[in-house]
Amino acid sequence: MTQLSLVMVETRQAKPFLKWAGGKSQLLSQFENSYPLELKQGKIKRYIEPFVGGGAVFFEVAQKYEIGAAYLYDVNPELILVYKTVQKAPEKLIEQLDEIATRYRALTDDGRKSFFYEIRERYNLQRHQIDYRHYSPAWISRAAMLTTLFVFYIRLS
Ligand SMILES: C[S@@+](CC[C@H](N)C(=O)[O-])C[C@H]1O[C@@H](n2cnc3c(N)ncnc32)[C@H](O)[C@@H]1O
Repeated sequence: MTQLSLVMVETRQAKPFLKWAGGKSQLLSQFENSYPLELKQGKIKRYIEPFVGGGAVFFEVAQKYEIGAAYLYDVNPELILVYKTVQKAPEKLIEQLDEIATRYRALTDDGRKSFFYEIRERYNLQRHQIDYRHYSPAWISRAAMLTTLFVFYIRLS
């Protein structure tokens, strides 16, 4: 399984950045009552999330309670690639997302659709060239493309 470990230094209003299927954002207030008392008392210093997905529960817990370290897992290597890229190269990822956003804003509706298909094709073609085990700069464009495709998909559907 693919894993990401984090040491919680500070989190500022971080929210899930991917609208992942089955995300639990809508259920967070219901989950609250089921959290262990020790979490609320700040006694739990290691948070382990076996199915992180979009991370709605993780972001909520990490910001509400004092957890020292978090270990996030997911079977989906594409997803973990995005989390690790956010961890390793946030500025470069933001730069690429800004470039995509600038290009997108300048396009007509039809142009935006073509842009979506263009990114999707590049994303699909790149798959076989990616080493999911070892970070490389190619991860940055892949993370930018996946994040963008999610946003596009929501806007165009
Ligand atoms: C519904 S999402 C989890 C929601 C998330 N915990 C939240 O807070 O919103 C389910 C995730 O579990 C992952 N998953 C499914 N089967 C798995 C397995 N056997 N091992 C690890 N992850 C798995 C999927 O890839 C998906 O990203």
